[in-house]
This record gives sequence, C-alpha cells and structure tokens, in this order.
Amino acid sequence: MSVRHFLRDDDLAPDELLEVLDLADAVKADPYARRPLAGPRSVAILFDKPSTRTRVSFSVGVADLGGHPLVLDSAGSQLGRGEPIEDTARVLSRQVAAVVWRTGAHERVERMAAASSVPVVNGLTDDVHPCQLLADLQTVRERTGRLAGLTLSYVGDAANNMAHSYALAGANAGMHVRLGGPAGYLPEPAYVEAARARAALTGGSVTVTEVPEEAFDGADVVATDTWVSMGQETEAADRHAPFTPFAVTREALGRAAADVVVLHCLPAYRGKEIEAEVLDAPGSAVWDEAENRLHAQKALLCWLLERGGGAG
Ligand code: CP
Ligand code: NVA
Repeated sequence: MSVRHFLRDDDLAPDELLEVLDLADAVKADPYARRPLAGPRSVAILFDKPSTRTRVSFSVGVADLGGHPLVLDSAGSQLGRGEPIEDTARVLSRQVAAVVWRTGAHERVERMAAASSVPVVNGLTDDVHPCQLLADLQTVRERTGRLAGLTLSYVGDAANNMAHSYALAGANAGMHVRLGGPAGYLPEPAYVEAARARAALTGGSVTVTEVPEEAFDGADVVATDTWVSMGQETEAADRHAPFTPFAVTREALGRAAADVVVLHCLPAYRGKEIEAEVLDAPGSAVWDEAENRLHAQKALLCWLLERGGGAG
C-alpha cells in the first residue's frame, strides 16, 4: 500500500472527503471506540509556529486513539538548527506512525512527505490549513445537514492560508465558494485554479471579489480569520483600513441568509475581523468548530493509517 499524506485540502478526492467527514461524525458519537495507535505507537507533532488548538487537538486525539503524542517545538529540535527536512523525515519514519507539522513555506511539508514512509499531515503552512477545514465542514454539516450547493463566503485576508483552504475544501465539497478581500490581498491564482478544477468535478464554484456586499449577499456560511497571520505582525497597522469593510458585523450579516452559520478558526480579534456580538452570540458555531478539530483529525488519522501509513 502506498502512504497517503494530507498536505492540501484537495489531497482527498471528493468521495474521500465525505468518508473522512462521516468518520468524524462517528468518532464524535463514540470517541474511544477506535484505537489504531494502540501499542502505543507515537505520532510526532512538530511546531515551527505557535498553536493552541492544533497542539491540543492532535495531542488529545492521538491519546484517544491509543497512541503517544510526541510534541516537539522546532527550537528544541535539530530541525530548528538546520538539520535537513529529509533526514528528519527518515529518522521519524523509523519510529513514529505519523508526522504532523506546522511550518511556514508549504514546500517544507512537501519535502517532509516526499522523504517519509509514514503519513505526513499539514498542521498549517503559509499556504493552507487543511485540518481546520475538515472541522469547519463537519460543523457546517452538523448545522445544515448538507454541504453541496451551499454558498460559503470567506471574507477578510483573501490571500492567506484559510482563504486558500476554503476555496479548495469548499469546492471539494461541491459548495459555491466566494472569497472576498481588498485589492492586494486576494488569493494566489494557482489555488483559485486548483479549486475551480475541483469544483468542475463536484458542481461547486469559486469566485473572488473585492466588493464586500457581493461576498455577503445570500451566504449560507460566512467565515473569516485574523487580518494579521502569524509572521505578518509588522503589517498590522497597514491592513486595518483596507480590511475594515470586510469585517463580520451584525450589519454585514444582514445581507446573508437568515440562518447563516458563522465560522472563525480562532484565535479571533473581537472588534477587528469579527464583532464580539457575532462571535459570542448564543448558538455561535465557532466553539463547535474548535471542538471538531479533535474529532475530524482523529478521523483523518484513522483514515490515513488504514490506507497504508505507519511503521513504528
Ligand atoms: N485554528 C488553529 O489552528 O488554532 P491554533 O493556531 O491555536 O492551532
Ligand atoms: N491565518 C492564520 C490562521 C491561524 C490558525 C495564521 O496563519 O496565523
């Protein structure tokens, strides 16, 4: 069996995405029934950037699956001192069942995967955040009962990792994805093209707009993210004015569907990309979304390990 990795949202075919989401629902309903890591086998969980949700959900998830979470910060490993990614992959592959890595340049996880004989999972790169989208889609399906045909609007920094992942994963699920952001902060064309290619298979669509109203109008799902991603801190002041028209406010949501589902991957900055009243509203989906990181990633690990990954 060849090893499967999960580096981008479109690494799963549309039917495979639904398999993982169905498994995520089953895992959530019966959290300790599956123990593919019993032994315990270890999963290396590596961080080159800060994290709360990804760190906690993978650590808890691996333990729930009977395994041992081995959490390493790059500063405390030889990877952080320049040991080649390929050498790290070879060493980890001899000892762990899977590798989860949060890092910067996307090609770094590609290099890790190319040299790894166990599944490599992207825990966020500068380009995409595919594990987050598994949780997001699980949450939307819980709230609405479906994905295909829904309009999913992501507003704010349309050039960041979340924007690319909403395009890829939403299209993979047959959704009509709209990415709304100011000029200069629009998605990489290669990701829009890849998402459109996937949408052509699923009946979804992908549009990009600089007009906030066009993004919000009639949306079934509205998602946003910080205007200042990790590593962009020095740009914060410059981003505020152009991004403000894309803030998720009660007024803006007046244009969306009456039962709109609002998503935010967190951490959130109240009063900037999202109004406190929206984030903290009774019935806000964002806390389910954060919880679903655990269930969706456990499902992903089960799915990847079943498909041939995992020495150790
Ligand atoms: N949403 C998310 O990935 O959160 P962390 O940065 O806390 O992991
Ligand atoms: N776009 C954000 C997501 C954080 C989970 C960042 O990369 O910092």
